[in-house]
Amino acid sequence: MSLEITINHVEQTKISSYDIENVGFGKVFTDHMFSCDYINGAWQNPRIEPFGKIELSPTLSALHYGQAIFEGMKAFKNNDGKVAFFRPLENLKRLNVSAERMCMPQLPAEIFMEALHQLVKLDAAWIPVQAGSALYIRPFMFATDDFLGVKQSETYKFMVYACPVNAYYNHFLKVRVEEHYTRGAKGGAGFAKCAGNYAAAMYPTMLAQKEGFDQVLWTDGATHTLLEETGTSNVFVITKDAIYTPELTETLLDGITRKSVIELLKDWDQNIVEKNISIDELIQWHNTGDLLEMFVSGTAATLTNIEMFSYKGIRYDLNTNIDLLSVKIKEEFNAIRIGAKADRFNWMIALK
Ligand code: COI
Repeated sequence: MSLEITINHVEQTKISSYDIENVGFGKVFTDHMFSCDYINGAWQNPRIEPFGKIELSPTLSALHYGQAIFEGMKAFKNNDGKVAFFRPLENLKRLNVSAERMCMPQLPAEIFMEALHQLVKLDAAWIPVQAGSALYIRPFMFATDDFLGVKQSETYKFMVYACPVNAYYNHFLKVRVEEHYTRGAKGGAGFAKCAGNYAAAMYPTMLAQKEGFDQVLWTDGATHTLLEETGTSNVFVITKDAIYTPELTETLLDGITRKSVIELLKDWDQNIVEKNISIDELIQWHNTGDLLEMFVSGTAATLTNIEMFSYKGIRYDLNTNIDLLSVKIKEEFNAIRIGAKADRFNWMIALK
């Protein structure tokens, strides 16, 4: 396909209706959105239009059988007004891994990157600058066949929209270790960023939230004895000996923030270990005083500490009144993202 993107500008920006430095998370959207259609085996008609509702048929296969995948990524603006994306090619890679698992077409890099550059260039005024805020970008793809039977769709839509955001969590987290429900099973699609994974997590999350927890801390589906991730993020455990994070399996999301935390910790010569972490081990570390800190990592969640986890009805509190490593990591990420520190990992891609 040609990379010529048709652009239909808004008549009037709506930015003056908002204080974009104080918008919370996920409620305010920029002026424009990108769309592109997969028809007859090819991506076509790339376009940027005013952000708004789209017309869908009630028979749309994504609505019934869940062929729907998405990504979450961010763009930042530095003090000189320069804009850069954080590791967008990692999001593209993961989108295409999810697409393969959900039997959807691959998205070429040039469409993904051109959509990001042109959309964010148009809506750059919407990027908040205070630390912890960013322009959150949501690329997503869904099946669009009008057909009632269960089969892989022949047509798809890829879209991108963006929203200025502050922190997803503005407090430390209380999590409940899951003992019954399963997020990802062996041979399943836990590693894919597909809509169904989030839908299936909602009921157990609602039960946990009713009991006052913020999130479920998922365990492996086979034995419910190994830590996996929360409903919104990966998880890190810091002990006196090492920093641990569950090793990636087919049931875990390969988080880009997770990957970046690991790269940074290696650069800082920290003992970072990717391994199976059992709940028994976690409780033992807690009981012996070896457990120093736990935090979650994600694009939306950034780095957020866990202040308490619960297992079999017992609460395990963590001391968050210490020099938190998560805070140091977050500060380093922020410095790299806004250009205050050199991007020694080549994470940032400047807006063209
Ligand atoms: C993200 O971190 O980007 C996600 O997709 C998770 C969701 C909780 C917003």
